[in-house]
Amino acid sequence: MTNPTVLHLHSRHTVGAVSPLIFGGFLEHLGRSIYEGVYDPGSVHADADGMRTDVIEALRELGLTVVRYPGGNFASGYHWQDGVGPKEARPRTRELAWQSIEPNTFGTDEFIKLCRKLDWQPMLAVNLGTGTPEEARDWVEYCNCEAGTRHADMRAANGAAEPYGVPTWCLGNEMDGPWQLGHVPAEQYAIRASQAAKMMKDCDRSIETVACGSSAPTMPTFPEWDRTVLESLGGLADYVSLHRYVGNPDDNPAEYLALSSSIDAQIEAVDACARYVQAKRRSPGRAYLCFDEWNVWYRARGGAHSDGRGKVAPALLEERYNLEDALVVAMFLMSFIRHADSVRIANLAQLVNVIGPVLTQGDELLRQSIFHAFRMVSSRRTGVSLRGAVEGPTYESERYGNVPFLDHAAIIDGSKLHVFAINRQLDDHMPLTVAFADHAIARVLSSEILHADLKAENTFEHPDEVRAIPFDGWSADGNANATMPPHSLVATTFELA
Ligand code: AHR
Repeated sequence: MTNPTVLHLHSRHTVGAVSPLIFGGFLEHLGRSIYEGVYDPGSVHADADGMRTDVIEALRELGLTVVRYPGGNFASGYHWQDGVGPKEARPRTRELAWQSIEPNTFGTDEFIKLCRKLDWQPMLAVNLGTGTPEEARDWVEYCNCEAGTRHADMRAANGAAEPYGVPTWCLGNEMDGPWQLGHVPAEQYAIRASQAAKMMKDCDRSIETVACGSSAPTMPTFPEWDRTVLESLGGLADYVSLHRYVGNPDDNPAEYLALSSSIDAQIEAVDACARYVQAKRRSPGRAYLCFDEWNVWYRARGGAHSDGRGKVAPALLEERYNLEDALVVAMFLMSFIRHADSVRIANLAQLVNVIGPVLTQGDELLRQSIFHAFRMVSSRRTGVSLRGAVEGPTYESERYGNVPFLDHAAIIDGSKLHVFAINRQLDDHMPLTVAFADHAIARVLSSEILHADLKAENTFEHPDEVRAIPFDGWSADGNANATMPPHSLVATTFELA
């Protein structure tokens, strides 16, 4: 047992309202994400639209608010018109990002149907790799304009008389990366993106756009790329994207669990670019952050994991997650909550089979460890983020400096207080006090814990090795006190007096 840790909170020390859109997801035409994932007309679970109802029900539990589609790297070679109209007339296409065959039996209209079933806000990524700004504009017309002109009439002819009203559009994907189809330097991307954004917004003035920021903070052009793109796009970019995939390739859990400060640093660097550009432009508004790809991904990466070998729905990027990965997934969400004043959208990449919280195998479905971590936070998301102060023991990490054993986030919602806590210690329990300066903590409304062996993972044979269970370890008498097991996540809703 280490010395006690105290998390100090005050209702006036606020960061900002937590955007519900930080609990988003991502579906790409990649591997078995769409086909055999959400869409599988041959499955015993298929509904009348060919969607897998078991997958839908599992994803519903995550409380996702917004879902990005159709890629990812796929987006940079995708021509949206291939995926609309009568299915028998849609072309089979050779897919270059993942070396697969794309049957195009799932496209814009099917994605919107899926969004309607799950109450997701759709978010579309246009092709700025091999596509033209005009093609992007036409897609906005197809989705968002009243019937009466060519592309809107196509939508009506395909069965949707009313516009879809897609509010958020990504201006390409990871255009800073040499692996991206149509990759260009920042200045050239910015010209392409400005042309597209202008026409897209001319078509529907209500839409918001997301400019491609750096695809990782390790990119040699980070953060210069972000500054250049934002400066050049000016008011045409409502958001700038951030991407981040992390892992534990050296099997060093203490180091792995320390990485949350580097997520904070990434957010703060890109936000600094956005604020710099705002100042330079003398603008009343700035671009907000859209963390539209994030997750743990390091095992099923590269080589055979990324090469579809000319197949439809090959098994690609099928990462299996353990408890330590679930803690890191919670850390991402907690960092977004701590930066509620800048991070407005975030998308867990991805949702099903491909680096996903949900796996399918034939007619079976499995919830991976990260599923439970995401749900624990997502189900306590409403309110205003509080800036906490931690008093307690720390440790030295190799890459991230001095790190408190406690990782935390807190949200106040009227008389409710949501607290998320991770004990990063590998072997020791942590005595934790939540001290709320200007209110007494009256009682616990709900509390859950995620705790297992660090390397424990759920499998189809043993699906419940890592799952959240009720936590009854709190005592609340003004402050709240508990002892957290090593390497655990506790998510709690308190009632304030
Ligand atoms: O999510 C998997 C891939 O990771 C996406 O297609 C790409 O944008 C990123 O590099």
